[in-house]
Amino acid sequence: MSAPAPARRRSPNVPLSIAVIPGDGTGPEVTAEALKVLAAVAGSEGIRYELETLDWGGERYLRTGETIPPGGLDLLRTKDAILLGAIGHPQVAPGILEKGLLLDLRFQLDQYINLRPVKLLPGVETPLAGRGPADIDFVVVRENTEDLYCGVGGYLKKGTPDEVAVQQAVYTRKGCERCIRWAFDYTRRRNSLKKTLTLVAKTNVLTFGHDLWWRTFQDVAKEYPDVKTDYNHVDACCMWMVKNPDAYDVIVTTNMFGDIITDLGGILQGGMGVAAGANLNPDPGGVSMFEPMGGSAPKYTGTDQINPIAAINAMAMLLEHTGHPQAGARIDRAVARVTGTKMSSQAAGRMGHGTRAIGDLVVAALAD
Ligand code: IPM
Ligand code: MN
Repeated sequence: MSAPAPARRRSPNVPLSIAVIPGDGTGPEVTAEALKVLAAVAGSEGIRYELETLDWGGERYLRTGETIPPGGLDLLRTKDAILLGAIGHPQVAPGILEKGLLLDLRFQLDQYINLRPVKLLPGVETPLAGRGPADIDFVVVRENTEDLYCGVGGYLKKGTPDEVAVQQAVYTRKGCERCIRWAFDYTRRRNSLKKTLTLVAKTNVLTFGHDLWWRTFQDVAKEYPDVKTDYNHVDACCMWMVKNPDAYDVIVTTNMFGDIITDLGGILQGGMGVAAGANLNPDPGGVSMFEPMGGSAPKYTGTDQINPIAAINAMAMLLEHTGHPQAGARIDRAVARVTGTKMSSQAAGRMGHGTRAIGDLVVAALAD
């Protein structure tokens, strides 16, 4: 990516310390390719690093009943970054691993930015007719610790015909302000010609929570006179992302809307085989987590058919955000070369190569 965030390494003199959570399904396969690319780029860039692999995920949960084991968070707090493969196991009920592992990590480590680039790489097919890489290159900054994701709510008269279920969205001034301020900084740093930050919300209906977002956005905007601002309701944003994706530079939005529009963004950029995201805690000492956006794709497990590009892109983001932007940019260039010249599709099983071969092609392209 063109705009690395300031480095969050604790010390430049010790090896980069990365926790690796390969997770479930195809998570370990794509993680292996990301680590292969890390090994290659670290060798040529002179980056020293150490890995600690953690067996957290569905299998461990089925065996022990634990999602994050005791002491797990403290262990992660000693790391410079986390690489996560995928979470989701067919024998574990929906919600357990998502809430107990993925969301809990985001919340407990206060990773309040979910940074999701939407960039169409060369050679990658988008479902948008007549559009190419020049048209699709924007970034979504999704708030990552509040909103409907807080788990605030409850039932009344559960299981009866009179049942009531309440699920509340929680927004705080602190929570939206730190996200909005980070998004302004990022827009400034990204330095695209548009230099525009668009707030995406639903102020016409969510007249309390999104009014707080709106007022905070206006307040913080005063500190960034060089950044242009815009506003879209989320429904209109879905329309514009399809119709005029080239109009966007950076979008800042709430957790739930960010979840939804980044799946739309993911498909615009060629699908979950490509889309990566960073869960950032940008505060001093904060530990950030990098992941391919796709799930564990159980049906492809062990078949060497899943696309590792998203995980490799996540590794590029990890390096950019831990003080190695040149290594991240090298991976970005290598990936673009591979998608542009070597892959027939980004869909699992139709890439023209296996998972491991794609990793090898990216490693080879690093040397170009
Ligand atoms: C994502 C995922 C998660 C989310 C799920 C798995 C809890 O969809 O990272 O976008 O909703 O944030
Ligand atoms: Mn999602």
